[in-house]
Amino acid sequence: QLIQKIAKMINQAQEIYFVGCGTTGVVSMCARYLFAKIAKKKVNFEYGSEFSHLEEILEPNSLVIGISQSGETIDTLEAIEMAKAKNCQTACITNVKNSTISRASDATILINAGIEKAVASTKATTSQLGILILLAFACIDKTMQAKQILHDASGKINDMLNPRYENILLKLAAKIKDSSDIYIIGKGINFPVAKEAAIKLQEISYIHAEAFAGGELKHGPLALIQKDTPVIVIASKDKNYHDILSNAIEIKSRGGLIIGISPESNEAFDIWLKVPKHDIDAAIINLIPIQLLSYFLGILKNNNPDKPRNLAKSVTVK
Ligand code: M6R
Repeated sequence: QLIQKIAKMINQAQEIYFVGCGTTGVVSMCARYLFAKIAKKKVNFEYGSEFSHLEEILEPNSLVIGISQSGETIDTLEAIEMAKAKNCQTACITNVKNSTISRASDATILINAGIEKAVASTKATTSQLGILILLAFACIDKTMQAKQILHDASGKINDMLNPRYENILLKLAAKIKDSSDIYIIGKGINFPVAKEAAIKLQEISYIHAEAFAGGELKHGPLALIQKDTPVIVIASKDKNYHDILSNAIEIKSRGGLIIGISPESNEAFDIWLKVPKHDIDAAIINLIPIQLLSYFLGILKNNNPDKPRNLAKSVTVK
């Protein structure tokens, strides 16, 4: 019912802004791709910490939706408060009932992922992506279709979480653990997925990790590739498949070590991380091997994967 309520708010608003920080910032960015694909609707995204530049253009018929696992992140809260001050409608997607952001918002969707203790967000992230899929389908009155997609996605995740798959990722972690840099590329929704991969790798492995849109490589980042630089290529079998593969080939010809995340093997991949076939659920599915790889890198480097150095679970002060 809350999904329907917020879908209605989305359908009635003139401009829609999704806002979040860190991983939830990246989830907000995924909204842009999901709503365009599913509901043929343009939604905007902004990081909470950069939201204030919108102050001059927020109109009362705008809707601002904050995404926050904790519901306490100061920059996301301030975005919601600013939107309210400008008489916009507000909503949030959070994991914590009665959190500050929830209390500040006109409507709340609880993701019900269970308490998330580790600093690195994983289950809340996949659940938030699930809520976005539900919301986008609810905007076109096709909630049942979304439920089926999410039901199937949970089965696919279950299939991946097995000792054999984990062993493949553990071996890969052992191979790249001493790398100074890891790059991740994606196109379409796999671009924000690549950005989330970079956050997970940074937090847990402490290796410099950076994401690029595949098409941006030639505009600078390709200069970073040296012999054996690991590059994770997220290659869903969608309309971007051939473009991202040709990016992979460019990197490979400069000596990069190509780690392909894809349902299908390809000769461009030095290492293939097989994922189940996917479509709308691409972000949810493609994140699983990355979350596991980050975890194993952290373990092999004797880092505490639950409590990365210098980071807090929720950032409540500026
Ligand atoms: O609680 P929030 O979702 O608002 O937190 C936002 C970020 O601080 C958070 O996602 C952070 O980036 C995580 N540690 C990522 O794993």
